[in-house]
Amino acid sequence: MDVVALASSPAHPSLLPEAWAMLGRTDLEAYTCWDFPSQSDGHPGAGDASFNGVTPARCAENLVRRYSRPGDLVVDQMAGSRTIGDVARALGRRAVSLDLSPRRPGIVRADARAWPLRAESATLVVVDSPYSDNIVYSRDPRCLGRISCRDPRFIAEMSRVAREAGRVLRRGGVLAWIIADEYRGGVYTPVGFRLLSALEREFEILDTIALVRHHDRSASPMWEHRARRFNFFLRGFKFLLIVRKPVGDRGG
Ligand SMILES: C[S@@+](CC[C@H](N)C(=O)[O-])C[C@H]1O[C@@H](n2cnc3c(N)ncnc32)[C@H](O)[C@@H]1O
Repeated sequence: MDVVALASSPAHPSLLPEAWAMLGRTDLEAYTCWDFPSQSDGHPGAGDASFNGVTPARCAENLVRRYSRPGDLVVDQMAGSRTIGDVARALGRRAVSLDLSPRRPGIVRADARAWPLRAESATLVVVDSPYSDNIVYSRDPRCLGRISCRDPRFIAEMSRVAREAGRVLRRGGVLAWIIADEYRGGVYTPVGFRLLSALEREFEILDTIALVRHHDRSASPMWEHRARRFNFFLRGFKFLLIVRKPVGDRGG
């Protein structure tokens, strides 16, 4: 039975359709810590769970449902195995998936710093970018996964991606960006905080979510032992930074 029919049935005389619509949203995350049991939870066909660095489908679902409406344009411009585009389409949004190295049909080859899209055409942009040079995504020299997060060029190039998002988003549109910090060779690099301060130059910060990591190669008794013995921490979460393109011009 659909929500409106149920709301107006004799068994539920006092419930308005809007109240039912709100009840239908209780499956959305309400706190700033998101922990999903698996990549494909709720969306078995979205993306490819075996792809290195794949986005949890429920994360994409929460963003799409909160920040866009059916028919809106959602852009997934570092698409990888296309989880975000798949979820957006399944939820009735228009989706454009771009990647420097398309792995599936329907992904358009493009550099995330120059999208083949009109200005102010998208409602939501979701970026799940490389966060250092720890994963080889392609041999293309423009791949941002070839730049170490310790290199100042990393935030400079990610800022160019953010500017392109700012151009393509309509006013009030949302940019959601998944990124992780790095601890390598005894050096901690706070990539999430650095990116957030770069984003703050053009966008309004809406919130920051901790996205719990699972099934990482470092999640093993051997690495846990090393973390305790050598006094460092394994990465337990990624950041999900949620920012909005200002509705009006920002004073400067
Ligand atoms: C973390 S993966 C994305 C995972 C994806 N959301 C999924 O669920 O499968 C990062 C992607 O960024 C892409 N990439 C790296 N540099 C790029 C660039 N300059 N332009 C477009 N895509 C780029 C890589 O090819 C890789 O597919």
